[in-house]
Amino acid sequence: MMNKKVVRKAVIPAAGLGTRFLPATKALPKEMLPIVDIPTVQYIVDEAVKSGIEEVLIITNSNKHCMENHFDKSYELEDRLTASGKMKEVEMINRIANMANIYYVRQKEPRGLGHAILCAKSFIGNEPFAILLGDDVVINKEGDPALRQLINAYKKVNASIVGVQTVAEDQVSKYGIVAPSEYDTSQGRLKKLYDMVEKPRQEDAPSRLAVLGRYVLTPEIFDLLENQTPGAGGEIQLTDAIKRLMTSQAVYSYDFEGTRYDVGDKFGFIKATIDFSLDREDLHDSVAAYIKEIAPGL
Ligand code: G1P
Repeated sequence: MMNKKVVRKAVIPAAGLGTRFLPATKALPKEMLPIVDIPTVQYIVDEAVKSGIEEVLIITNSNKHCMENHFDKSYELEDRLTASGKMKEVEMINRIANMANIYYVRQKEPRGLGHAILCAKSFIGNEPFAILLGDDVVINKEGDPALRQLINAYKKVNASIVGVQTVAEDQVSKYGIVAPSEYDTSQGRLKKLYDMVEKPRQEDAPSRLAVLGRYVLTPEIFDLLENQTPGAGGEIQLTDAIKRLMTSQAVYSYDFEGTRYDVGDKFGFIKATIDFSLDREDLHDSVAAYIKEIAPGL
């Protein structure tokens, strides 16, 4: 009987160049681009914390200092805000500094997502752990955050889980696509997998279930990542290592509830900005009125 372990740690890879958002990302990490007034990485850390994660490791590169500053205490700003009586703001910036225990490690070369995750090996040790990708912001207002849903599923099966949702047929080549076992005829959200392929051509995709930036993995993944050969795009792919994990352990997909925004894409980012601002009490009325005002002319 496998020893049941709690998922306490999460890894957030944030060492990408953010090429799709140049020139904004020339000096600013893409994870710091705000949706309304909150940097995207803060939504991700928030989801991790709300899912029960205690320790977060962010994989960075040399250009990411301001992300560390964001999650740190800022005495100077705090003093200035206090002096001008802005106590609500003081409370807000302190809350960010106390969200979780956040650690950082640098990925020294951009060799792909699998390689970035391998940088977390000694931090994770011999425990199951979560991965949250910063380009996928998921909102599930009525229920559990996406990662919490995966962790709950992990507790049931004690095996690795990848979070998926159905995407349009012409979108499959952008994602890791899973193949549920044909013997798994259950209609539920949790499915046992027998294959997984990174960015397949539309005609080769085994399903339309795409991995959307949430994973709970067993630590055995690290041994596989250590000798993983480059795959799609010449990069060391996490998907390829998870596929190999299936030969020694069960791996499941969980079709999580929630609205997912691809904030690594300009249009996805704009959609998130509109939806999040409509959801804010202080902005809803003016944003809604503005959309109505311009809509007839579009
Ligand atoms: C990565 C993963 C892919 C996953 C996607 C989700 O791809 O490699 O399997 O489906 O994130 O956003 P990327 O978007 O970094 O190319």
